[in-house]
Amino acid sequence: MTTATPNSALPDTTSQRQQLRKIIRAQRQQLSAKMQQQAATDLAAKVLASDIIAPGQHIALYLANDGELDTYPLIQALWQLGKSVYLPVLHPFVAGYLLFVRYDKDTLLYPNKFGIPEPLAACHRLMPLQQLDVIFTPLVAFDAAGNRLGMGGGFYDRTLSQLSPDSHCQVIGLAHNCQQVEAVPGEAWDIPLKQIITPAKHWVFS
Ligand SMILES: Nc1ncnc2c1ncn2[C@@H]1O[C@H](COP(=O)(O)OP(=O)(O)OP(=O)(O)O)[C@@H](O)[C@H]1O
Ligand SMILES: [Mg+2]
Repeated sequence: MTTATPNSALPDTTSQRQQLRKIIRAQRQQLSAKMQQQAATDLAAKVLASDIIAPGQHIALYLANDGELDTYPLIQALWQLGKSVYLPVLHPFVAGYLLFVRYDKDTLLYPNKFGIPEPLAACHRLMPLQQLDVIFTPLVAFDAAGNRLGMGGGFYDRTLSQLSPDSHCQVIGLAHNCQQVEAVPGEAWDIPLKQIITPAKHWVFS
């Protein structure tokens, strides 16, 4: 007679996601400063050699935290090209959502409640989501189908769910190669990515 495994013995999706976050975050935090620098340079070269940037003006990026792929060389190159760069800030009134605020060379940054530096959300510096041409998102783990696992706050999921399906905005995940996993255990609210760029590869999903 076979005994069925009780459901409670199976790791549920939530704990699988938590476990995956722990493992992949530890891996990226262990990358040396030299490896991080090389990855950042390779990323900038890859993005600039692609056809992503040329057609647009308004480009949202993030500042690396927790071992994330460093975007600063890319940001500097975008400034050189005369592009307008934006950073995510926690929405001051609507919990769980992000706003995108203009980031120039001389913009002052202040740590938010997670300790992540962000510009002040001054009205005249805000860029409506629908008017961004490219949004580069951080992520913790991704798979070969474009599924994305973030840090667990749902900030990008909530914010990107407001983009209309026919938006011209390209949403592109950035990650180290070591952040690829076999399969991201998904949840209904996760927004999958149509493109992901690592220092080694530009993934485009249909
Ligand atoms: N569109 C949404 N509306 C309301 N709540 C949402 C939405 N998207 C995600 N959430 C909530 O956010 C929480 C975290 O979601 P999830 O674990 O997918 O975060 P994440 O993708 O890792 O983080 P992030 O999106 O910030 O990178 C969940 O409790 C989920 O219910
Ligand atoms: Mg999610």
